[in-house]
Amino acid sequence: MGVAFYPGSFDPFHLGHLDIVEQAVGMFGELVIGVMHNPAKPSGMFTADERADLIRQSTTHLGKSVCVEKFSGLTVDAAASITASFIVKSARTTSDFETEQQMAQTNRAATGINTVLLFSSPEHQFITSTYIRQFAQHKGTMRTKVAPQCVLEALAKKNS
Ligand code: PNS
Repeated sequence: MGVAFYPGSFDPFHLGHLDIVEQAVGMFGELVIGVMHNPAKPSGMFTADERADLIRQSTTHLGKSVCVEKFSGLTVDAAASITASFIVKSARTTSDFETEQQMAQTNRAATGINTVLLFSSPEHQFITSTYIRQFAQHKGTMRTKVAPQCVLEALAKKNS
């Protein structure tokens, strides 16, 4: 089926993202995770290099099926540069769905590349990087694990 491309800001990578990565690897066999900049999310926590490194650490169990790279510019250009057959995205809420639908249709109209929308397991559906960052900034604790251990440790270190 060819390599698939999963773009995102991943600031930070969490268990919902990992769920999508594992599903996409099961479907496509090979996945490139693209660490990108979302112009709608200007204030982040981790640098692109840090985000990419945390994703690599979080996906070691998937071996060579997963490759993590940084990209700038358009998602479709990044997808074309690795000759991806599909873009993989996810949606948690109806508002996410509408945004993803518009982006998928724009990207297909522009280049012909299709987007596959995947849904995480219900236990991961509430997890967002935005709220993880807010809890970390205020040193709040969560009793449910929301991110891989390396990410939780990096968050604690960054906000100590
Ligand atoms: O994890 P995010 O923040 O939801 O990821 C969004 C991202 C980075 C994939 C999206 O903002 C994006 O595609 N940015 C690249 C710019 C682009 O391609 N814009 C045109 C969209 S139709």
